[in-house]
Amino acid sequence: MKRYFITLAAVFISITLFAQNKNIDPGAVWPDNNGDHIQAHGGGIIKIKNTYYWYGEERRKGLDTNYRYVSCYSSPDLMNWKFMGDVVKMQDPENLGYRWILERPKVYYNKPTKKYVMYFHLDTRNYKYARIGIAISDKPDGDFKFVKSFRPLDHESRDIGQFIDDDGTAYLVFEDRALGFHIAKLSGDYLSIEKEMSLVKEPLEGGAIVHYKGLYYAIGSALTGWNPNPNKYATSKSLEGPWTEFKDIAPPETKTYGSQSTMLIKVIGSKSTTVIYMGDQWRPKSQWDSRYLWIPVEIGEGKLWLPSPKPFTIDVKTGEFKYSNN
Ligand code: GAL
Repeated sequence: MKRYFITLAAVFISITLFAQNKNIDPGAVWPDNNGDHIQAHGGGIIKIKNTYYWYGEERRKGLDTNYRYVSCYSSPDLMNWKFMGDVVKMQDPENLGYRWILERPKVYYNKPTKKYVMYFHLDTRNYKYARIGIAISDKPDGDFKFVKSFRPLDHESRDIGQFIDDDGTAYLVFEDRALGFHIAKLSGDYLSIEKEMSLVKEPLEGGAIVHYKGLYYAIGSALTGWNPNPNKYATSKSLEGPWTEFKDIAPPETKTYGSQSTMLIKVIGSKSTTVIYMGDQWRPKSQWDSRYLWIPVEIGEGKLWLPSPKPFTIDVKTGEFKYSNN
């Protein structure tokens, strides 16, 4: 009997240790390697060699409210994520006061300096400070140290988005209520903004871009805070524009299936290229339980569309995705 229980316990432990996510289930609780719901809201993903790193707002329950936290997860396959820890635990860096804001962290790897450079939205509680913050680290999993904050090209900047083009050039998308949203090129060391590529005069935030078969597709959400709205896209042959009119990316009545755009990930494999829309389903009253809506998009020839969310697997080697049956 005793032996039976020991065997059972061993089976249970190995199942828990090696529990694998078999697919990506949009909008469901997404367990990390410890079985905890991933905390990487408003996030960004980069690939270094064969590893993906996902950074985002750490909003788990019980955090010390004197700090703001950014988490990091790593993955070989985009489905199973290992928690690498909170790579930022920051105290108010600039006297911003009660309920200061650090949102939408994005990390770029700068080859010349071998530094990981994190951009984030730094703000006061009333969102009037409207600046970019920068923190750097020697390793992908931190610690990231605060360097400075600024207004990119002297513009207000709230939601930010990250875009790295196929040639490796790094760009920042930033939202500026007064004018629209900007697409700007980073400087050589990534510590500042070099120049503006486009100012898209459309009130959009949560900006994201993908370069697919010779066209740039830019998406964003309307300015409705935590509440979802119909997100839209436009295309251009060049990051400098001109951009087409903005059109819906999903049936407008679904309000982007209750989500807000954060990033477009392009998975280039040996057989195919899949672009995944990465959105946040915010739960403002229980942010730790906010969900992720990932959907492989229908894209090409100037069209971008989110089919209704269904569980899927992605093969990062072949670049193919497949809907699964659960
Ligand atoms: C959203 C924005 C989020 C957060 C929120 C606060 O519009 O995308 O990142 O700032 O507003 O209301």
